[in-house]
Amino acid sequence: MRTQVGIVGAGPAGLTLAHLLHVMGIESVILEHRSRDYIEHRVRAGVLEHAIAELLVDAGAGDRLRREGIVHHGIELQFAGERHRIPLSELADGRTIVIYGQTEVVKDLVALRLDAGLPLLFEVSDVSVDALESERPIVRYTHDGEAQVLECDVIAGCDGFHGICRPSIPTTVLREFSREYDFGWLGILAAVAPSNDELVYAHHERGFALLSLRSPELSRLYIQCRPDEDLDGWPDERVWEELQIRLGLDGWTLAEGRVLEKGVTGMRSYVAEPMRHGRLFLAGDAAHIVPPTGAKGLNLALHDVQVLADALGAWYRTGSQALLDAYSTECLRRVWRAEHFSWWMTSMLHRADADGDFGLRLQLSQLRYVTTSHAAATSLAENYVGLERV
Ligand code: APR
Ligand code: PHB
Repeated sequence: MRTQVGIVGAGPAGLTLAHLLHVMGIESVILEHRSRDYIEHRVRAGVLEHAIAELLVDAGAGDRLRREGIVHHGIELQFAGERHRIPLSELADGRTIVIYGQTEVVKDLVALRLDAGLPLLFEVSDVSVDALESERPIVRYTHDGEAQVLECDVIAGCDGFHGICRPSIPTTVLREFSREYDFGWLGILAAVAPSNDELVYAHHERGFALLSLRSPELSRLYIQCRPDEDLDGWPDERVWEELQIRLGLDGWTLAEGRVLEKGVTGMRSYVAEPMRHGRLFLAGDAAHIVPPTGAKGLNLALHDVQVLADALGAWYRTGSQALLDAYSTECLRRVWRAEHFSWWMTSMLHRADADGDFGLRLQLSQLRYVTTSHAAATSLAENYVGLERV
């Protein structure tokens, strides 16, 4: 089989790339290791930057996003028993964020792809990439029990952090940068109306907590936990009890509801450079990971594929490789900005025993600064809604 762009992975990065290419008349084949049902029910992030929501809408993939996405103009930071609003839109030229689950983005893109009769194969196995430095890179895989070879012009490695594309780049070429955190997030999805109109990021001596949402009937909540936290120790009642303590305020209570999903995610910061080797281009989690506190993971993934789609479009149209050659550098500028912002939000809000009381005092000082200084609040706001230029 032959195609123009072979895409490994049907997460938000792979699916969006395929769609953007299709709009430009460029063919692709997406190969996904999991089932359709699995990728459509994985609960993930839920905050889209202004420009990323626009990207989906402009590409014709945002009908439901426009109907059901909830536009927010601010977030709240809670510490020392008080809540402080950061008026994002006021501080960042009117830009907003849109609350819309990554799962919904994935469902919308899968439906568009399959309705158009375009190739998206689920449950492929034994995926490997080869001949990356030639003009005919190939993807090998097994589907329905048969070994296949897909010949491509280029390959997009959109197969997430645990995929096979990044490890196919020689170790002499790839540089890795990372930081581990000794905590994780325990997250729940609950059938209850969100208790606050805007997201609440709460600093608490017992650890961080976050109140978020998915819809007028669905709340998404997180508490800081150990990276290897055993869910058996966290029956629903204990999760609510801890959320009540960390998010609680005089005169305000968190409404509780049925827990629909519960999981623990570890946290890390990670960047692989360069994001390209020969005819293999990495995008999204395959190339970088941020801790979720800045809500940047999904946005970075979609930014990467926007840059890649533009570069491939120019290459097929004009034969010029200039934008493809600039791909890695262009993406990494935004990646490192998001790495810094995510690390900074994480350090400001999480309990870190190793930093002791000195660290705690620094956090509280920084939180007070961010919520009282126009300049500091603007810095948070423009990073949160997404910088226009980096
Ligand atoms: N072959 C084919 N597909 C694979 C392989 C493989 N060897 N390995 C992994 N995959 C698939 C996964 O099953 C997954 O569906 O690649 C996809 C990668 O998708 P994501 O992990 O969602 O990564 P990405 O599309 O880059 O989106 C980044 O996801 O994890 C969140 O916070 C992150 O919001 C960010 C977003
Ligand atoms: C979410 O709603 O899942 C969410 C929101 C904000 C974050 C991370 C996750 O920073």
